[in-house]
Amino acid sequence: MSDANQNSLPNGPLRHFLQFRDFSREEIEYVLARAQIIKDKFKRYQPHHTLHDRTLAMVFEKASTRTRVSFEAGMYQLGGSVIHLTTNDSQLGRSEPIEDTARVVSRMVDIVMIRTFEQTRIERFAAHSRVPVINGLTNEYHPCQILADIFTFMEMRGSIQGRTVAWIGDANNMSYTWLQAAEILGFTLHVSGPKGYQLDPKLTGQVAPHVLREFDDPMEAVKGAHLVTTDVWTSMGFEEENEERRKAFADWCVDAEMMAQADPDALFMHCLPAHRGEEVTSDVIDGPQSVVWDEAENRMHVQKALMEFLLLGKL
Ligand code: CP
Ligand code: NVA
Repeated sequence: MSDANQNSLPNGPLRHFLQFRDFSREEIEYVLARAQIIKDKFKRYQPHHTLHDRTLAMVFEKASTRTRVSFEAGMYQLGGSVIHLTTNDSQLGRSEPIEDTARVVSRMVDIVMIRTFEQTRIERFAAHSRVPVINGLTNEYHPCQILADIFTFMEMRGSIQGRTVAWIGDANNMSYTWLQAAEILGFTLHVSGPKGYQLDPKLTGQVAPHVLREFDDPMEAVKGAHLVTTDVWTSMGFEEENEERRKAFADWCVDAEMMAQADPDALFMHCLPAHRGEEVTSDVIDGPQSVVWDEAENRMHVQKALMEFLLLGKL
């Protein structure tokens, strides 16, 4: 690829998926519809090699099970191949600038997925990349997970527009991504977390009241919700706060009593990994309203659609 092509692909301008709002509503809907087609073919064992000969580089600066397996299996199923890098087994661990890594890696592969710390770090990579970059989780956002969660909701309950999603617990990367999704797709997000761990207005900006409602009491936040969702009390990178957080979050455990406040048809989701007995009880995560295993599987289907869209555009 010559320098002249640095900011474009054969199908159009270079695009990245660094946060949920990088895509319009119409583009998100396209990717989700395409994911359904791809999933249906996967279930029928029909080959779908739209990314034959393409290479995905995955860069992990934090641990992963689902993100690694879903991207790696997904790219192989699309006919491509995968290179797996971590901080410790690459020169990133020996202080090679992220910009130089981006310049080099993106001359050799077709698409890059990165899991890292600050959002600015993935933005710096993308700014120096010749190929699309996907956010596989940063401190601020986890957009592939929310794509999968919305796909899962739609599969089981239809459109998410006009529905209510209750986020219980830490104002972390998942919650900020849910908020972007609510703004784009037209649903309401209820959020409840302990003081000191609530959404930061500096990061959310002005949000309309029909998009976001914040509650001190988690029991109020789940009232009438169509989806109840939570996450670990301590995200990766914040481990030294673990003990302090355990105390602060004690009342923000999703249990059967809390689920009973939600709509009777409410689903329960968790991006996983989960800590049973902390943010969620075993009877909820392993109970009939929980869809966490479908949610995890759907990471692969939506990410296959996402990689296809970034490399080939609409098909
Ligand atoms: N939900 C999620 O991203 O899981 P991993 O950390 O295992 O990738
Ligand atoms: N909020 C969690 C999600 C893990 C998939 C974390 O960042 O560790």
